[in-house]
Amino acid sequence: MSRIEIIRGDITQSCVDAIVNAANCSLLGGGGVDGAIHRAAGPELLAECRTLHGCETGKAKITKAYRLPANYVIHTPGPVWHGGGHGEEELLASCYRSCLGLASENGCKSVDFPSISTGVYHFPLEKAAKIAIGSIAAYLNTHPEIERVRMVCFDARTEGFYLDALEKLA
Ligand code: APR
Repeated sequence: MSRIEIIRGDITQSCVDAIVNAANCSLLGGGGVDGAIHRAAGPELLAECRTLHGCETGKAKITKAYRLPANYVIHTPGPVWHGGGHGEEELLASCYRSCLGLASENGCKSVDFPSISTGVYHFPLEKAAKIAIGSIAAYLNTHPEIERVRMVCFDARTEGFYLDALEKLA
């Protein structure tokens, strides 16, 4: 699937229609990629997020991107890993589907994702990569309006698992 790419980088630099933020349910910022996106976007992002009154795990909400080079930020709270018996895998897949659905609704043709839930939320990286790539590919198969999706990996280990998952895509 040539419409999916795996790159190393800092998602706050992405000059695409939408970048995805691995948020928490409050949507009021945090550490990791959430913190980086809010720092780069500036205070107007938090001001807009305050009007959204949070977001359920697995769902997504969209805002403007303010000082970021992207046009939109799509915020999605991923699942915290609790061992796998609490619907975490389906919730993670739902994050990717919900974000792409909002991207389609808002005319976004290029979307960059971070590796949702594999940092502070401790979702096992190999499993997360398979779920992410599988969910993105399934969505793109029926949604030609999205021209390109990239996984923006912050470190080499993460990049390696996503490259593997893309290679193994049936
Ligand atoms: N660009 C791309 N990826 C990044 C960046 C960045 N600037 N900064 C961090 N990452 C990567 C991490 O290395 C990890 O691979 O994003 C991935 C997700 O890690 P977290 O940001 O910790 O997100 P997550 O595991 O989903 O936990 C979400 O952390 O920051 C808080 O408010 C957030 O409570 C929420 C929780």
